[in-house]
Amino acid sequence: MSKIIPYGRQNITGKDIEAVVKVLKSDFLTQGPNIEEFEKAFSKYIGCNYAVAVSNGTAALHIAALALNVTEGDKVITTPITFSASANCIRYCGGEVVFADIDPETYLLDINAVRRLLETSPRGTYKGIVPVDFAGRSVDLEAFRKLADEYGLWILEDACHAPGGYFIDSNNIAQNCGNGNFAELAIFSFHPVKHIASGEGGMVTTNDKALYERLLKLRSHGITRNNAEFVNSIEFANGNAAGETSTYPGWYMEMLELGYNYRLTDFQAALGLSQLSRADEGVKRRREIAKKYSQAFLNRNWLLGQSGAVEGHAYHLYILEVEDRLGLYNHLRQSNIFPQIHYIPVHLMPYYRNLGWKEGDLTKAEDYYKACISLPMYPTLTDEEQSIVIDAVINFYDR
Ligand SMILES: Cc1ncc(COP(=O)(O)O)c(C=O)c1O
Repeated sequence: MSKIIPYGRQNITGKDIEAVVKVLKSDFLTQGPNIEEFEKAFSKYIGCNYAVAVSNGTAALHIAALALNVTEGDKVITTPITFSASANCIRYCGGEVVFADIDPETYLLDINAVRRLLETSPRGTYKGIVPVDFAGRSVDLEAFRKLADEYGLWILEDACHAPGGYFIDSNNIAQNCGNGNFAELAIFSFHPVKHIASGEGGMVTTNDKALYERLLKLRSHGITRNNAEFVNSIEFANGNAAGETSTYPGWYMEMLELGYNYRLTDFQAALGLSQLSRADEGVKRRREIAKKYSQAFLNRNWLLGQSGAVEGHAYHLYILEVEDRLGLYNHLRQSNIFPQIHYIPVHLMPYYRNLGWKEGDLTKAEDYYKACISLPMYPTLTDEEQSIVIDAVINFYDR
């Protein structure tokens, strides 16, 4: 039996292991120096001013939605072709998710569908947009920013699939996913199938200092240790003690708002940091793999669409749209190749059906779901393994 070729996998090196072990032998398992180091290195890599490390991408989405003040009844627009977490963060805050259809060429949230929603609703109906750099392909955030500004909306970019991805703006400048130039906030995940693995882990990025400071509090119970933010008096803080009452005592902190424990551990941060040092290499290899897939499947009569060779694509996933997707899926599984389907449209998950969404609401996303299949895509996929995958796909149709 040949080795299983999965659709994605982590790559842990000896250096990664050493970095984790070093933290395990140190004084801090959590809230130590590796967190800040990871945040600084990550913001430099992405090209933003601030980064806040959290326990996973879903936690990143949750505190991002809280920092944007999403509240009961707020309507927020997102894509149905994403992982449910992109939408769920709005529900955590009591908001209403409004799905808009995808562009069948890019598989990304269709800006024209969003514009139609905005144009046909009274002003003020919507509060924000959560575009997703799905599969690693960057959304044109410059265009989304322009639209959002027309209607006074915020943008929360879900860049979980796209560290290292970029789009070219109207001034011919490459704009990195998550760099904060067009969106108030962006989020990333460090789940093992993602570009950078820390076991579980996530990051929120921004160029906005006030949002950054709020995120720091939301990550850790809404607590501050900053004297300038304290509300209670120095006398109270000192226990109404006689003597020195001109300063807050060393132990003092305040919980200012309802936050969470969404902290990342220090050994996870060390792993993330070590992985980050190879991130460029990984994206480069993903692009090579994508180019080879793209050429191998070009002009096949059973092919309805594919990710293709697209500038700036970070290729978390390489997707084909095919006839007889179920047949191909089963054939690949029998060949020990484990493809995956990304995604079952979120609006047709039972939870969202119960909120009123139904088949026929977003036909482009639904048609895409009937045909999509994600092929193996990760930096350690060898040329030989990729050839096995390509041959298996072609043999299924052209046998
Ligand atoms: C697009 C997208 N958003 C959010 C998440 C949530 O990230 P996590 O699994 O780290 O909570 C994922 C993870 O699968 C994702 O793919």
